[in-house]
Amino acid sequence: DTRKRKKKVLLMGKSGSGKSSMRSIIFSNYVAKDVRRLGATIDVEHSHAKFMGNLTLNLWDCGGQDAFMDSYLNAQRENVFSDAEVLIYVFDIESRSVDQDLETYSQVIKALKEYSPTAHIFCLIHKMDLVQTEHRERIYEERCKLIAARSEGLSLETFASSIWDQTLYKAWAGIVHKMIPNLVVIERFLQAFAKQLSAEEIVLFERSTFLTVTNVVTEYGEDNPHPDRHERISNIFKTYKHTVARNTRTTAASAGFLLFKVQTQRFNCFLARFTENTYIFVVVPPGEAAFNCAVLNTLMARDVFA
Ligand code: GTP
Ligand code: MG
Repeated sequence: DTRKRKKKVLLMGKSGSGKSSMRSIIFSNYVAKDVRRLGATIDVEHSHAKFMGNLTLNLWDCGGQDAFMDSYLNAQRENVFSDAEVLIYVFDIESRSVDQDLETYSQVIKALKEYSPTAHIFCLIHKMDLVQTEHRERIYEERCKLIAARSEGLSLETFASSIWDQTLYKAWAGIVHKMIPNLVVIERFLQAFAKQLSAEEIVLFERSTFLTVTNVVTEYGEDNPHPDRHERISNIFKTYKHTVARNTRTTAASAGFLLFKVQTQRFNCFLARFTENTYIFVVVPPGEAAFNCAVLNTLMARDVFA
């Protein structure tokens, strides 16, 4: 049913905390340095993001200036807070008015609890790049505790994020992961497929945003030393896509199935078009035969999966 597939996502938080910046990078192909051009959002800016074909995110980017906030909480209360599937609340770690930020958050949560009590809340502690590396963990944990205490027992997940590194992709992949229908079916298929290929790992990326949909790691891939490799891949591919978009010759050349491959002494991997809405990234152990076999099998699996 269409109501289920169209999910209302509220994006809220103080003015200047970075809401529209994230939205533009994840859904509109901006790169981080472009977002300085964005002006403050006036009232609510609606947009639709198609995701995995049958899932549409109905994004409400709610301008965070005090007068707008006041209007959401009062005059527009029912309209804004009803039927929400998800609330993404952005905290600016640089903010000097932590208590007031938490108070506003608390009011938002109360309104959400009243009109959409089953909504999931994601809190992003944002602009972490502005905090010295050695203090990040501690400051983040402290902030999380304060937020949890004001969340009225609703389902809550928190992420540290910055538009300047891969943490932005980790946070948004986590958010989107929660909303994709049939994920269990997809994951079961990928498990079996990875086994069949003796792959170390398979990652599925959503095509327009390049966010990780899901991934499976087999026993062959368990000792991989890079825990944030998916987010790095998202980041790299986003940049790659920008380059491709600027270069028509490359676009023509990449119209095929295999987008690119990397072969090293320790592993081989490739990225390929999979379904209409996904790219697949496959990591296999070294060896030309195993690699070719994996490519061929992936090509055939496309038809089964689609
Ligand atoms: P309103 O629309 O007024 O509610 O603000 P907003 O939350 O949409 O803020 P916006 O996205 O317009 O960002 C405000 C400023 O924050 C921009 O100048 C961005 O460059 C900056 N910004 C966003 N994300 C980050 C981040 O991760 N790190 C740093 N250092 N700056 C950021
Ligand atoms: Mg904005």
